[in-house]
Amino acid sequence: MVTKSVEKEINEQILREEHSSRIYIAMASWCQVNGYQGAAAWLYAQADEERIHQLKLIHYLDDRGGNAQLSDLEKPAHKFKSLLDVFQQVLKHEEYISASINEVYSVSIKQSDFATSNFLQWYITEQTEEESTVRGILDQIRLAGEDKGGLFMMDKELAALAAKKRASLLAMAGMNAGV
Ligand code: FEO
Repeated sequence: MVTKSVEKEINEQILREEHSSRIYIAMASWCQVNGYQGAAAWLYAQADEERIHQLKLIHYLDDRGGNAQLSDLEKPAHKFKSLLDVFQQVLKHEEYISASINEVYSVSIKQSDFATSNFLQWYITEQTEEESTVRGILDQIRLAGEDKGGLFMMDKELAALAAKKRASLLAMAGMNAGV
């Protein structure tokens, strides 16, 4: 059984993961209409991954005697200055999500809810990987600068990363039947 404060924290994280998914769909749409098909594919896959993160939390909370609840979400941004701007915002958002997961983890420790702390380890590892991936993408976009050829190659690279992400999402969904 989770305590009321752990339940509240997890419900807030459920909302943040859902919001992440919407933010990335909006970014993907901008990329698609601005000629970055690979970046769009990566962001759409990332949006699906965030939904898996959300559902995993919902199932966990309900399984532990809590009650997952959804609420209103603010409208995501739809306008971006450049591909660099998009991925700078992705990194900023992922850093925010990492900090929020740490906060949920910290509350679970304070409440001596070690099952939840253990469950959240998966998210902590996931965040480290996500931040690292996005930093790598940003480095390459910065290297390309204003060079159209460089950005074109980068977009191809993102298409390949998107295909890899899709494959790992399928595996993740298989491991978490019901998600
Ligand atoms: Fe589920 Fe990228 O945070």
